[in-house]
Amino acid sequence: MSIDISPETSNTAEKLTLEEKAALTGGADFWSTKAVGSVPSVAVTDGPHGLRKQDAAAGTDHLGIGASVPATCFPPAVGLSQTWDPDLVREVGDALGKECQAEGVGVLLGPGINIKRDPRCGRNFEYISEDPLLAGILGSAWVNGVQGQGVGTSLKHFAANNAEHDRMRSSSDIDPRPLREIYLRPFQQVVQKAQPWTVMCSYNRINGVYAAENTWLLTDVLRSEWGFEGAVVSDWGAVRDRIAAVAAGVDLTMPGGDHAGDAAVAAAVEDGRLALSAVERAATNVADVASKAAARRRAGASYERHQHHMLARKVAGNSIVLLKNDDAVLPLQADSSIAVIGEFAVTPRFQGAGSSYVNATRIDIPLDEIRASAPEANVMFAVGFTTDGSGDAQALREEAAVVAASAGTAVVFLGLGPRQESEGFDREHIEVPADQLELLEAVLAVQPRTVVVLSHGGVLRLAPIAASAPAILDGALLGQAAGGAIADVLFGTVNPSGRLAETVPVRLEDTPAYLNFPGENSHVRYGEGLFVGYRWYDARKMDVEYPFGHGLSYTTFTYSDLSLLADNGGITASVTITNTGERSGREVVQAYVSLPGSAVVRARRELKGFSAVVLEPGESRTVSVDIRREDLAYWESRLDGWLVEGGDYEVALGASSRDLRVTGSVTVDVDAIRIPLTAESTIGEVMANPVVGQLIGNLMGGGLAEADKVAGQDLGIDIVRMMASVPIGRMTAMGGEVSVEQLEQLLAAANGTPAPAAQ
Ligand code: BGC
Repeated sequence: MSIDISPETSNTAEKLTLEEKAALTGGADFWSTKAVGSVPSVAVTDGPHGLRKQDAAAGTDHLGIGASVPATCFPPAVGLSQTWDPDLVREVGDALGKECQAEGVGVLLGPGINIKRDPRCGRNFEYISEDPLLAGILGSAWVNGVQGQGVGTSLKHFAANNAEHDRMRSSSDIDPRPLREIYLRPFQQVVQKAQPWTVMCSYNRINGVYAAENTWLLTDVLRSEWGFEGAVVSDWGAVRDRIAAVAAGVDLTMPGGDHAGDAAVAAAVEDGRLALSAVERAATNVADVASKAAARRRAGASYERHQHHMLARKVAGNSIVLLKNDDAVLPLQADSSIAVIGEFAVTPRFQGAGSSYVNATRIDIPLDEIRASAPEANVMFAVGFTTDGSGDAQALREEAAVVAASAGTAVVFLGLGPRQESEGFDREHIEVPADQLELLEAVLAVQPRTVVVLSHGGVLRLAPIAASAPAILDGALLGQAAGGAIADVLFGTVNPSGRLAETVPVRLEDTPAYLNFPGENSHVRYGEGLFVGYRWYDARKMDVEYPFGHGLSYTTFTYSDLSLLADNGGITASVTITNTGERSGREVVQAYVSLPGSAVVRARRELKGFSAVVLEPGESRTVSVDIRREDLAYWESRLDGWLVEGGDYEVALGASSRDLRVTGSVTVDVDAIRIPLTAESTIGEVMANPVVGQLIGNLMGGGLAEADKVAGQDLGIDIVRMMASVPIGRMTAMGGEVSVEQLEQLLAAANGTPAPAAQ
């Protein structure tokens, strides 16, 4: 038995025994693959917003418990995604790749691009968006950045891992269209645009089948359909059955050290339960990744900690969303008197708990950074509340109110503590802690000029804050430079341009999966179908607190002169953006598309492209947004494939999903593929067919359109509509005007196939 280790490693190509090949399908230990023959070992580490490289001596784990080497903690995905800036995300990836090179890490375990289906998912802070296009674009940028440094990535968690509750057993039960159009689409985009070296299969089941045992997912879709060329790695502990996993398409089971499992894989080949080709595929894919990493390894590489910290600060500044700014409370004057209130101002919450937990190289304290940014200002502080409930809440509140009353402005830091959300469990509600709301009320009673700064990984119900505070900065989680970045935005050194990557609902009960989360008996029914995030609120015409894509600036922009051009590559939308305010600023131009009169169920509008522009006061520029044809396609279950419907697409450009400024319409040609007509196709479907549509009316006794008239007299009924849902085949049986032969000829003409020969 022999194996030729891929072209990438042709210089190390060699013969391996079955046992050696089987050994390559399991890791060596918690964080590395095995060295076998001349196949080198590769070190892997979490990811995604910084390295969590553990020292074996200090203990290893997948929950972020043990110590790890210091690394830059960039904004976690929840913050990073609010930049809506693929170039900046790529820069972060590039910096992470450099840190991996410096630490001898060959594969970084990220990005996490699962769709944020429900705000309660404990791991939403590690995911990008509720929208597949945004997740796909930013995920690709991250992968390209890291891999550009010769370090692999692991696209995770594949697939439909949208809750933490029961994550190692639960089945995500999803219909084909939402599965393809919402949950798999970002993975498809990243695989096809960026070819991550590895994909990590998730813990959960998909429609009853474990991801790690899912041949359809890991082989048919990922490899055959999408052309994935790398290795499939299991999530840590996701494999129950080594043999079933290898057979389905898992190449590397992690963590390693399961020697009995390796032996079982070899034995299964010997006794014919597992194809040798499956083990060879897995061994080759693992060897390829390891050899690629070794070939690109830059021994002795280092990185500048300060430089990476400053990049983390820039990114964090661009991640902050200005949700509200009544009476231009912000930016603050650098020489004013400011009351800074809240525990998070001195103990910032800047990342989430669990496997992604980074031991930051340094931590910017917001209070210190505010003082450093405004040395002339009189900055006072009161803690106001504690996240662990220690201290006398009322006394803390009263003290804060006194400080707030004596200042010109109050800046109140609110949010969730690390115990309130984490990997491993979901939240039960989305409320801001009650003591914090009481504190805000006490501050607002004495200080109307109050700015709220929010830190949180999952969406919060902001109604009580939005109703009373004049200004809100949403920091989500901003990484180790959060303090400096918040100061930059508070004083206007950075003009905020972040945009929500997730809708803020009015209340939890409004959310799309409210009644179907987190499921029961290890099944979650994705009953909301395609209507995830803004797709749901828009379809149901519901109010939201802050819409998807929302984010204000210290300047203002206008949109004019929309032009739309469609060709085979998709649609190009161009619009003139003008900065009508007094500061330089960045506008994220979002393109939402819909197809009125579509033959299938569709969202009211869907994000299909975006582009950003930086403009000086008074400056105008034309901005183009490219909408790719493949993103216009819907999943046609009858074809088991993607299909672009022809028609007049409506394209709306604007500053958020609910702030659409210019709208136009453009005709897009239908895909050449057609859904074949059969005797089970309805009269309506046959009539819509461009080849035989006319014919059917004629065949059916002078035309259906005339059938609602008796002796030329209108009966006042819509017979065409009444008949539209009748399968055409029934017309032959119902003694109608269509003979079996005519029907066969009709279907053959519609499908472009030869008609059956006459008997
Ligand atoms: C997480 C993965 C992580 C792995 C290794 C798992 O529990 O789901 O995201 O990469 O542990 O720490």
